[in-house]
Amino acid sequence: MKRFGLKELSVIMVALGLALGAWIPTSALASELKESMTVMPSRDWLGGIPEAPTEDWAVAFGGRLYDNWALAVDVDAPDETHPAYPPWGKKKGAATWRCKECHGWDYLGRDGVYGKGSHYTGILGLRQLVGKNPTIVEKVIRDELHGYTLEQISAAAGERLALFVTRGQHEIEQYVNMETRKAHGDAGLGGRIFQNVCAACHGFDGMALNFKTDENPEFIGTVANKAPWETLHKVRNGHPGVPCRHSGSCRSRR
Ligand code: HEC
Ligand code: HEC
Repeated sequence: MKRFGLKELSVIMVALGLALGAWIPTSALASELKESMTVMPSRDWLGGIPEAPTEDWAVAFGGRLYDNWALAVDVDAPDETHPAYPPWGKKKGAATWRCKECHGWDYLGRDGVYGKGSHYTGILGLRQLVGKNPTIVEKVIRDELHGYTLEQISAAAGERLALFVTRGQHEIEQYVNMETRKAHGDAGLGGRIFQNVCAACHGFDGMALNFKTDENPEFIGTVANKAPWETLHKVRNGHPGVPCRHSGSCRSRR
């Protein structure tokens, strides 16, 4: 299987930034194809478990749980705000149950991007868990403070989440300038992955999937420019709840 290194993945974001600028009108052939084709993704991939699960698969699944466990395993998150979510925080309800909401897309919590702004909580990040025993994380998510039940995050899902936290984190600041939000790297290399993997669903120009509304559109390049830390997490682990084939299989090992 073709493998890409993390450096190349990070440069996808450069390519994404460029993709938005280069709008190419859809050709007659492409629009004919669009009409005649229906995407039939494997439902198994979303909720299923492979016969011989690889660690790469488990870690990326864990990354999607970290992003939004309720979406990732198709269960309901509670409507009420998480009891550990601080009163000064600006979010409420189901959103406050996402690991990323308290610990950040950069896994740095208060010491990273969520150190200020509308996602500020003042809560610690999880970088210190890298390389630690995953059972620590499995215990923590069941503790009184976190209170996740087995109905919400099953034992198996908890294991994958713990693998992600201890083996799957990356250091975003190595790949992106945190001030300018520009990815380091070579757009040509990122373009290789973008055109071969991402464009299948997002389009060569990145505009085939609009995450928001016609009036207020949000495309893959919009997110990559605004929150490259979110994009790199999704590039490496996938986007929960949709058959979004990202690059989870291509992670570099620690
Ligand atoms: C509502 C906020 C909130 C959410 C959501 C949340 N946590 Fe936490 N987490 C905390 C707080 C608060 C602490 C304690 C940090 C401290 O001591 O300052 C903590 C601590 C931790 C620790 C221990 C860190 C250490 O070094 O001691 C781990 C591991 C952890 N959380 C994992 C997770 C995972 C995995 C999820 C998602 C399933 C999650 N957390 C969701 C608030 C949250
Ligand atoms: C099989 C189809 C498919 C492929 C391939 C794919 N995606 Fe996606 N992607 C989706 C869908 C569907 C969504 C969710 C759209 C929505 O929520 O409206 C999505 C969402 C995203 C988001 C989330 C934006 C947000 O809401 O924060 C990012 C970022 C993203 N994709 C990046 C990529 C990248 C980078 C690649 C290539 C490495 C890729 N995708 C490949 C289908 C795909």
